Amino acid sequence: MNKKILLTGGAGYIGTHIAIELINKKYDVVIVDNLSNSNKESVNRIPKITGKKPKLYIFDVQNARKLDEVFKENKIDSVVHLAGLKAVGGDSWVNSTEVGDT
Ligand SMILES: NC(=O)c1ccc[n+]([C@@H]2O[C@H](COP(=O)([O-])OP(=O)(O)OC[C@H]3O[C@@H](n4cnc5c(N)ncnc54)[C@H](O)[C@@H]3O)[C@@H](O)[C@H]2O)c1
Repeated sequence: MNKKILLTGGAGYIGTHIAIELINKKYDVVIVDNLSNSNKESVNRIPKITGKKPKLYIFDVQNARKLDEVFKENKIDSVVHLAGLKAVGGDSWVNSTEVGDT
């Protein structure tokens, strides 16, 4: 049986690229994303490239109850956590000083 990988933030830039690589290497991919910085279309493009559509759950990854349901419905072998609001851009340094040392 194929290993199943959960990608949080999997509809985003890095997530969709990782999803394609994993599917091409015969992993099953499950995505949790609230689409706050992405859209369904990016996930819909994955099967056009790989021939296989990842399962997509749309909710905030901080919702522990819904996340529990995902783990009950799917036998997840590994998680790649990419759900984050921090974009890498020209103003990254300014933002990092604004949020302090955390
Ligand atoms: N792109 C880069 O060059 C780069 C470099 C280093 C680190 N990172 C980090 O990697 C992660 C992914 O980067 P990316 O460029 O793919 O960003 P991205 O914004 O394209 O993808 C992040 C995804 O997470 C989702 N998301 C955000 N908060 C969420 C939440 N609470 N619940 C569910 N989904 C949520 C967004 O909708 C988006 O689809 C980020 O944490 C980023 O800081 C990115």
